[in-house]
Amino acid sequence: MHEQFLLFGATGDLAAGQVVPALANLLRDRLLPPGFRLHAVAKTRFDSDDAFRAWLTERVLKRAGAAADRDALRDLMSRTSYTAVDLSQPEALAATLKVDPKDGLLSYLAVPPDLFVPIARGLKLAGLLDDPSRLMLEKPIGRDLASARVINAAIAECVPESRVFRLDHYLGKATVQNLLALRFGNTLLEAVWSRRWIDRVDILVAETAGVDGREQYYSRYGALRDMVQNHMLQLLCLIAMEPPSALDADTVRNAKLMVLRALRPFDARHVAEDSVRGVYQAGVVGAQAVNGFTQLPEQSIETFVALRAHIDNWRWAGVPFHLVTGKRLATRSTQILVSFKPVSHWLFEKPGRQQATPNRLLIRLQPEENIELQLMNSLAAPEWGAMELQPLPLNLSVSPSRRRRIAYERLFLDALNGRHTLFVRDDEVEAAWRWIDSIDSAWNETHTEPQPYVAGSWGPQAAQPFLPADSGSPA
Ligand code: BG6
Repeated sequence: MHEQFLLFGATGDLAAGQVVPALANLLRDRLLPPGFRLHAVAKTRFDSDDAFRAWLTERVLKRAGAAADRDALRDLMSRTSYTAVDLSQPEALAATLKVDPKDGLLSYLAVPPDLFVPIARGLKLAGLLDDPSRLMLEKPIGRDLASARVINAAIAECVPESRVFRLDHYLGKATVQNLLALRFGNTLLEAVWSRRWIDRVDILVAETAGVDGREQYYSRYGALRDMVQNHMLQLLCLIAMEPPSALDADTVRNAKLMVLRALRPFDARHVAEDSVRGVYQAGVVGAQAVNGFTQLPEQSIETFVALRAHIDNWRWAGVPFHLVTGKRLATRSTQILVSFKPVSHWLFEKPGRQQATPNRLLIRLQPEENIELQLMNSLAAPEWGAMELQPLPLNLSVSPSRRRRIAYERLFLDALNGRHTLFVRDDEVEAAWRWIDSIDSAWNETHTEPQPYVAGSWGPQAAQPFLPADSGSPA
């Protein structure tokens, strides 16, 4: 296992909110090697390593509150050093970084994508990408297909793909990995997992949080690029991919790639019917009044997107996949709902055929984790005379007592150990961007602007048909 972790973007939100707590938890659980070292790098100057450590500790504690493990954080800080440098200057970077990569070095670029190439070049100049050093990149990889290709090509000149780890933190969530277990560890589901039995699939990532504090980044990316290109398409791939023959990285990634390549591109003719863009206005979320999204001047970006996607292959032809995500929605909920076709011949008087509820498989990923299979069940009782059916949820809850790990913990361990399965390959990223670009071009061609919605609602009125059937509160 590699022992050294070089973190770029050490003063950013992600570092304090996720990266540092994740590393501290791994240390506490003795999952990192005894010689583990964290080298933190960013542009801001601090008077000393101590000043940086004190500043970072305070930030982490402020964000984590009571959940913070102070001892683990102290341990991590005692292994941490800090370097200030302009990240856009490869030569300066190479001259300033004083890291000896001999015990295995993992460099993690938790920075905006326009810094990936200069940092990678600086690392290469400094010899910090020589075998066996590894490079890990935070999403998003670029802003469209063209910029992603430029990044992937420049990275490939610095380090081979076998030592590159593109991180999508959704793949580190235990519940997301459970999708593989659910689909391929059971015969039951695979037997009905196709257009023959499935009517529609809904993937929803609803957030109550707003853009607050990230306007600069978000105004250039929006919900389509921030959430759909990566997290939501990864979920879609895991639901839709063919069973891989093994769980090794390339076999799984090849299966996901086939799904991405089968996504039907959007065009100007269908985009109005198959998508909705929204932007939140002032409103009330969780009993708190919140402001609307303040765009940078001249920008018009969405904080909500609803899409009807089609996968053009034998398994999924004709099955709509509804992808909906937004900020400042009514509740926080990430879920996948698989709705099956109605029974082909209805025998029962009560309820009548129209009221019969088709089977549904509801996979809740967060905030709570559970899987529910909705079946029809009989309420037979002698006094009723007739047989009456009602929907019955079969609950497959995971014990709530189990401590949930930060998604980054799993991914950091995998990258330090050189395991690629839960990371995204260059061609996957490009295939995802190709599809996203088709949506963006169709929006541009048709001058589709984001429609306002009140914070705390379920998005613009036009998006309601994209939400799971009984949502007002989804599923
Ligand atoms: C990040 C996005 O990748 O994922 C954020 O940049 C978003 O805008 C976040 O809020 C959601 O992650 P999670 O794990 O809270 O669902």
